[in-house]
Amino acid sequence: MKGQLLADVCHHRALLVYLPPSYDKSTSRFPVMYVHDGGDLFDPAFSTALDAIEDKFAEGKIPELILVGIQPGNRRDDYTPWFSKAISLERNIDFGGQGDAYLSYVANECKAYIDSKYRTDPRPEKTGIIGFSLGGLISMYAAHQYPDVFTKIGSISGSYWYEGMVSFMREKKMYHPGLRIYMDVGSKEGAKKQNIQKQMVPLTKEAHQILADSGFTADQLVLFMDEGADHLSKYANARFPGALQWLWNEKEETEMELTKLIRERRSIHRFTDREVDPALVTELMDTAVWAPNYHMTQPWRFIVTYGEGKKRIAEAVRIMKEKREIDPSKKKEVGDKFYNKIMAIPMLMTVIMEESPNLITRQDDFASTSIVIHNFSLLAWEKGIGLTWETYPWIHEPEFREAMGIRPGEKVLGNLHIGYPAAIPNAQPRIPAAERITLVDKA
Ligand SMILES: Cc1cc2nc3c(=O)[nH]c(=O)nc-3n(C[C@H](O)[C@H](O)[C@H](O)COP(=O)(O)O)c2cc1C
Repeated sequence: MKGQLLADVCHHRALLVYLPPSYDKSTSRFPVMYVHDGGDLFDPAFSTALDAIEDKFAEGKIPELILVGIQPGNRRDDYTPWFSKAISLERNIDFGGQGDAYLSYVANECKAYIDSKYRTDPRPEKTGIIGFSLGGLISMYAAHQYPDVFTKIGSISGSYWYEGMVSFMREKKMYHPGLRIYMDVGSKEGAKKQNIQKQMVPLTKEAHQILADSGFTADQLVLFMDEGADHLSKYANARFPGALQWLWNEKEETEMELTKLIRERRSIHRFTDREVDPALVTELMDTAVWAPNYHMTQPWRFIVTYGEGKKRIAEAVRIMKEKREIDPSKKKEVGDKFYNKIMAIPMLMTVIMEESPNLITRQDDFASTSIVIHNFSLLAWEKGIGLTWETYPWIHEPEFREAMGIRPGEKVLGNLHIGYPAAIPNAQPRIPAAERITLVDKA
């Protein structure tokens, strides 16, 4: 496991808090998923789901999340929305119907505690609730009662057989544009039962249909049928990572509004250790090159260095810095300092432009290549990756050009220092554009 598990307590209920791998290496705020049953779905004592979840984090399929497992008092009371008589003679225990009190605790006390203690993104669009069986039932009830608190709803093998639940959903017939609801059920669930639980699969389908009829689109609502699976936690645990992926990895989640993206992007100087995926960078650059380019010269090329590849730049800088240091006793120290500085950057991109002999074309090409850089900067920011366009003088030195194989007639526009931000600097205010705009509508 790459993240951390912490035992915590809020108002006498035990919590199992999972913090994702970058939690300690960044200053970011993380989305939160509240998980019923003490977090058994991810607790390594019962489940191997965290390994799969962390793989999905690394692949960018799920944004890094905080998971908060909440221990129930009595799950038959906490996870039922109203009282109901026992349904089987073997376990002749009634359902207490304390779901309103339980959800009030999660939405208020527990959430306030978690938001104050951990770096969470407390907004509803970054808060979800999920559980298995009765935990799936109470999550669906939460979607109806607290859509302004939880917008990512996970109902894994939810107990839609529970007396009154389907009719409650039919009567309430709710629709909220911000909600995303994941439901699943195993095709064999209830097959061996002689009571109402025999209706597990058809009632789950009915609950799903009610939501679909209320206006939830396929982007907002899914029912996944796990063929051959019974009502067992091993199946639920196995589906949990996929449920998180469906709930959190939709385009709408990662795509920021353009205005926000432009205004919130910052030049980033400090990075976490997290590696940047070169395949992702290539994909983003493939969009970035759709920059306006008057002569369609597309004069750019890019060298992306990472891992051991950075040594090429680091060594060149060391040589240049040592050569230019006049005090012989300081040469090594200065050289090492710059070498280490370069090696600490997760990835560098050297932006190179073919220089046209024609001045006008050369200027236009410089402008176009700058646009490519900024396009990339915005696309990367959207994926949580930051950069600074660096134009230190040594990019023009022969040692650097030789190390990087820069050809005569090529100009280096800069090195982009790329990585996941360890800190996001404050915005440097811009002069309102109105002060620099002259409006002319008269002859
Ligand atoms: C052509 C260009 C060259 C830059 N060179 C450097 C540089 O060498 N070092 C640096 O720290 N920032 C450099 N920057 C980033 C600016 O300092 C930064 O954009 C500015 O401070 C505003 O901050 P912001 O990008 O976070 O809004 C450069 C930006 C541009 C457009």
